[in-house]
Amino acid sequence: MQEVTAVAAQAVHQTRGIERIVSGRNTSDGDGVRLTRILTQELQQRLDPFLMLDLFGSDNPDDYIGGFPDHPHRGFETITFMLEGRMSHRDSAGHEGLLENGGVQWMTAGRGVIHSELPEQEDGRMEGFQLWLNLPAAEKMCAPWYRDFSAEELPRFVTAAGVTVTVIAGTSHGVAGAVQRAATAPLYLDIALPAGASFSQSIPVGHNAFIVVYRGKVGAGGTAVGERQMAIMDNDASHDGVQLASEHGARLILVAGQPLNETIVQYGPFVMNTEAEIHQAIADYRAGRLA
Ligand code: FE2
Repeated sequence: MQEVTAVAAQAVHQTRGIERIVSGRNTSDGDGVRLTRILTQELQQRLDPFLMLDLFGSDNPDDYIGGFPDHPHRGFETITFMLEGRMSHRDSAGHEGLLENGGVQWMTAGRGVIHSELPEQEDGRMEGFQLWLNLPAAEKMCAPWYRDFSAEELPRFVTAAGVTVTVIAGTSHGVAGAVQRAATAPLYLDIALPAGASFSQSIPVGHNAFIVVYRGKVGAGGTAVGERQMAIMDNDASHDGVQLASEHGARLILVAGQPLNETIVQYGPFVMNTEAEIHQAIADYRAGRLA
């Protein structure tokens, strides 16, 4: 673990409030994997550059055992954060990896990959998130890229108040995360708030931001956010960050990014800027040009 202990407090003068609480929609994807889609297609404009967020969590193997057999992607990045469980990954660009307990897999589909994500366990709990991050038009056809980060490889720090923060992307309190992206400047933090503790994070004006609580309850801007709920934070230009607190302790993710303000055209696993590019993606996939 790359742990940093001496962390300067980060002042937030005016916290963003909660614009809306979202509970998501239960659905299934892949070969019958049950999940909650918490960032749905209707929120893509509002939460630009983020396209989708799925939350999966079950102790019942029937809910996850089928996994996600071979399927294509083009035009964006997928970030899988595995809180608990083991999943193997294999793609047509030759990347292979095992994602487990607290690890992150970051895949840039770019011009296209075909990949599978399959459970490496027959029972026990599987829980985590998959976030889709858009690529700017100029990078949608870039070469595919892939990295696995084990929990130990992810930068992590503890604040004076005892809050443990894992920096998956972006920078928090001077600690640079595992991945940086220039165009979308994503911030992706996993935060463990002990009972009675609070945490402040500055967020640039104009960036879209949300939290998702997965254990306990979090207070943000005077509103309580419960387990498996997303809170979309407001974009008031006078608000310079978020202040989060928990009376009884909580775990959550905080995600923010710079909007691309480009047209989003999605057809299933392809996200491009025009209908013509979607037709091209489908044609390329059918002709075997993604593999
Ligand atoms: Fe996928």
